[in-house]
Parts: sequence; structure tokens; C-alpha cells
Amino acid sequence: MRKKLIAGNWKMNLNITDSEVLIKKLTEGIHDSYFDKCDVLVCPPFTSLMVTHSLLRGTKIKLGAQNLHWEKDGAYTGEVSATMLLSAGCEYVIIGHSERRQYFGETDETVNKKIKKALENNLKPILCVGESLQQREEGIFKLVVENQVKAALEGITKEQMKDFVIAYEPVWAIGTGLNANSDQISEMNMIIGDTIGELYDSEAAVSLLILYGGSVNDKNSEEIFSTCGVDGALIGGASLKPENFINIIKSIK
Ligand code: PGA
Repeated sequence: MRKKLIAGNWKMNLNITDSEVLIKKLTEGIHDSYFDKCDVLVCPPFTSLMVTHSLLRGTKIKLGAQNLHWEKDGAYTGEVSATMLLSAGCEYVIIGHSERRQYFGETDETVNKKIKKALENNLKPILCVGESLQQREEGIFKLVVENQVKAALEGITKEQMKDFVIAYEPVWAIGTGLNANSDQISEMNMIIGDTIGELYDSEAAVSLLILYGGSVNDKNSEEIFSTCGVDGALIGGASLKPENFINIIKSIK
């Protein structure tokens, strides 16, 4: 079985001191043997990237950011570029999270620009897609996710898809305590895989990692990980609680 990817999205939480405390607990609690089954990634806020990077040195835990800007540098107050993330030690970057789409005007077009910039700089993108509750109720959720994937990957070559990760995160499941069930997750993973197959080929579809995100915790992770097509999880709230995050890792069979 291939390795899962367990990614913690800290969102806008934890100052530098709190980040240090969390990372110390994670590095102490995640034993070497756990890495046989998964890669572990943490995505702190920008301000904690450097301290996290230095604390992770010599460990197998990887570092990612939660966003980037598509320009190389310049007059873009408040933004952070791909090369800045690289210099802070990032290997991954989350792109197109629904909170960014919802609150910060991120569109399929900006998501696409960000993905291109990440790939150009050898940052591994974690593209987030997922439907709202209304879109699910209206029965258009498959089309919504398919269109999000297609728009995000416009102009991306098959070769660039080598290290690509897509997180299926239904908006109605994020931070609500209400996770999607196995049937819903495997159905959406199939849609995503088929879309990649259609855009590229079956090899690209098979090599793609598809994570599930939305209220993953140590009570539901075992079932989620045993769901067809789930290659890991993008975890928000539970990634801030070291015991919960470690238990999620331990629940991989
Ligand atoms: P949650 O967030 O685990 O708190 O639901 C997941 C995410 O937004 O990536």
C-alpha cells in the first residue's frame, strides 16, 4: 500500500511560542516507525514557518505554507511569494482552500496562477476543491468539483502532475464536526481521478494523491483512511491538538 499523507493545516492559529510547543510535542510523539505508513506535514501560519523549520531539522516531518502569491516579488503589500516560502523551508503549499475562496476572493483563475507559480518553484501544491452545502443539495456537486479541478489545472502538463496533491474538502464538512461519509468521499475521489484521467491519462490519475479534509479527528480517521481512494487527510482543528493529531497518524492500518 502506498504511503498516506497526513497534513495539518493550522490556519490562523498559534503564535511563535505556541507553535514551538506544538512542534516539540509532535516530534516527541511521532515515532520513527509511523513514517513507514505515512508522510507527515505541518502547515503553520507564515510567522511560524521559520521557527517550525528549524525545530523540524533532523526530523521526517515536512513543512508547508497555507497560501502564496503568484508574482515573483514587487509591490503586493501583505503577500508572500513562492521563493520566500522556499527560503523559509517549505516543501508544500496549500492552494485554493475554501476559506480563501470564501473570504478572500480567491477564484479558479487565481488558484491556477498560484499553482503554476508553485510548480515553477518546485513547491508541491495541495489543491483544495469541494462543494458548498447548497451545491450538494442542488445536486451539482460533482460538476462543481470537476470544474474546479479543470480550471485549476489549465495549462499544467502531465510531467508537472508528478508530485501533485488534491484535497477533497466539502465546505459543509470543514470545522463543522460533520464529516462526509465513506460513500460520499469515494464517489468524489472517483470524480477527481476520472477528471485527471480525462485531462492527462490513467498514469497521472493513479500517481495523484487525493486527501480528504473536513472534520477529520481521531474518532473517524480509521474509517476515512480505509475508504477507497483516500491517500491521506488535510486536518484543521484536530491538527492543533497533538494527541489527536498523533492518534490520527496511529489509526492508519
Ligand atoms: P477541519 O478543517 O479539520 O477543522 O474541518 C479542515 C481544513 O479546512 O483543511
